[in-house]
Amino acid sequence: MSRSSRKKEHIQLTLREECLGIQSLDDVQFVHNCLPEFAMDEISLNTSIGGLQLSSPIIVNAMTGGANEVTGINEHLAMIARETKLAMAVGSQMAAIKDPGVEETYRVVRKANPKGIIFANIGSEATPEMAQKAVDMIEANGLQIHLNAVQELVMPEGDRTFKGVLQRIEKIVQALHVPVIIKEVGFGISGQQARKLAEIGVSAIDVGGKGGTNFARIENGRRENPMLSFNDWGISTASSLLEVSSLKHKIGIVSSGGIRTAIDVARGIALGASAAGIAGSFLHYAVKDRWEEGVYYAHLLHQELAKIMGALGVATVEQLRKVPVIIKGETYHWATMRGIDCRIFAQRGLD
Ligand SMILES: Cc1cc2nc3c(=O)[nH]c(=O)nc-3n(C[C@H](O)[C@H](O)[C@H](O)COP(=O)(O)O)c2cc1C
Repeated sequence: MSRSSRKKEHIQLTLREECLGIQSLDDVQFVHNCLPEFAMDEISLNTSIGGLQLSSPIIVNAMTGGANEVTGINEHLAMIARETKLAMAVGSQMAAIKDPGVEETYRVVRKANPKGIIFANIGSEATPEMAQKAVDMIEANGLQIHLNAVQELVMPEGDRTFKGVLQRIEKIVQALHVPVIIKEVGFGISGQQARKLAEIGVSAIDVGGKGGTNFARIENGRRENPMLSFNDWGISTASSLLEVSSLKHKIGIVSSGGIRTAIDVARGIALGASAAGIAGSFLHYAVKDRWEEGVYYAHLLHQELAKIMGALGVATVEQLRKVPVIIKGETYHWATMRGIDCRIFAQRGLD
């Protein structure tokens, strides 16, 4: 099957509700503050990731490009990002690196949003030259490299060799002059692998945890004989955030995988993220002529997030990262088994 037909199938399958999973961030409860000191007009949603200043912690995460039929989707996503000042990533640009004829399907994002923060996106099979080409193609401010071994394994026509990934990423980090973010696509990143990535100098980790768009189910939907072993595979978004934020390495963290609401964004930040990536939920607004509804959705997220921050008595994203939270349920169990002390999160600010 051609790459462009696959991309169209991914979009159709994502739009089916059953590809969305259980949100593990529901296991995170804020400790209510009955004496919050705040004024709504002093609350700032500014944040930074990999040294880039963002005016919102919400990122329109990587989805598409590479087929003429999806140019409109990318343009709509870019318009949502422009109107709401969100950073945005394009989908994997490997299609355009192999076939320059589809470069326009990505360039449309920079055209629609000339001043925005835009991330290029490439797979871990890329060479430094390919990575640079992806960045130059859209004058990107940063580069996302996606890790998706499970998706490839379930994909009938997917890759079967995954050797030397860390070394290739290291070469890209050394060669490029923009921040490099490593992201999963819905199976999460553990502390062990995050540490290796931090040690080779990546700027940020986007955990891409389990709980949202499920690429095992999507690829199984395209298989004659589904590989059900992978349908529930992966580290949840909340558990993955705990894994990565408990490292002693200072590295930017993006919370993603099933983020839909303002409270999801806030909870991810309280587990150590500086930003939250949303993919599937924005896709719904971009596929048809509904991009203005996508703008409205992002505005509502911003308004509610600011109110959550006010209720907690914090004025900045950086302060939200340090509020006390109780970690419950499956996520507590995961953390305990992995030697992550949830009391550190619960007892913040007690001394
Ligand atoms: C239709 C579709 C295509 C995607 N393509 C890419 C891609 O090319 N590169 C990438 O890094 N992630 C890709 N993703 C993964 C998303 O960036 C994100 O990690 C994942 O969907 C989980 O977030 P969500 O639950 O908010 O959708 C894609 C997601 C969707 C829905």
